[in-house]
Amino acid sequence: MRANYAQGVDVYYQKSGSTYRNLHFHALRPLTMDCLSRFWDHDEKTRNCGFHIVDLACGSGEITQVVREWESLGKKVLSEGVASRTKRKLSVREIPSNFPPIQIVAADPYTGEAYKNNVGVPCFNLNFQDIADGKLPPSEGEDGIYDLVICSFALHLLTDPSKLFATCYALAAQCRWLLIVGPHKQPVLKPEWGWIPWNIETWLPLDYGVNHDHVIERVHGRFFQSINFL
Ligand SMILES: C[S@@+](CC[C@H](N)C(=O)[O-])C[C@H]1O[C@@H](n2cnc3c(N)ncnc32)[C@H](O)[C@@H]1O
Repeated sequence: MRANYAQGVDVYYQKSGSTYRNLHFHALRPLTMDCLSRFWDHDEKTRNCGFHIVDLACGSGEITQVVREWESLGKKVLSEGVASRTKRKLSVREIPSNFPPIQIVAADPYTGEAYKNNVGVPCFNLNFQDIADGKLPPSEGEDGIYDLVICSFALHLLTDPSKLFATCYALAAQCRWLLIVGPHKQPVLKPEWGWIPWNIETWLPLDYGVNHDHVIERVHGRFFQSINFL
């Protein structure tokens, strides 16, 4: 990827955004499903009040697709059971059939066409700076707050610490939890940026700097809780 970004990340995605595909999808899928299942187990508010998600820097809809598949499998567990082969490979949870459809709000400045072609609905044309400027619309939840923002293979592209701070800080005011998915442990979020690193195994907070990534087939997932909704 580094060679692709030689002329700059923005230039690369301006040119190739309409045809973007994530080559790690085979690993991103089980990792994200496992993270969603653990979140579901621990987050009572989501189970009681509905699930509102942001797919940030959504590309061609990789995370949106995984969330929709996890939701669909979860709703089938009670009625049909899920084929044992699927169950062995993927982490799913029973989702009551009357649970409202998961709200997914997706945003990306360059891949709107690819997202719409793949997922069938549009995404918002918002970049990280727009998020920092508070342009993410409120969720459809009663309080307007999102339960989870997932940023997959993208947040490390924001290399300027002051811009990363501004985006993270704004997200922490609108989203209760953050899941960063990626090929490594970057970026590192500082404590004063609004997010507490979380241990996915114990579901307890961690001290800054403690390694807390959950890895499946070399794709890393890291949870953070917003300091604003403790
Ligand atoms: C490697 S792709 C990841 C896409 C998708 N989330 C995935 O998991 O495959 C990086 C994404 O970041 C987006 N991106 C690049 N610059 C951005 C910026 N300044 N603000 C927001 N998104 C940006 C690109 O358009 C691209 O969709």
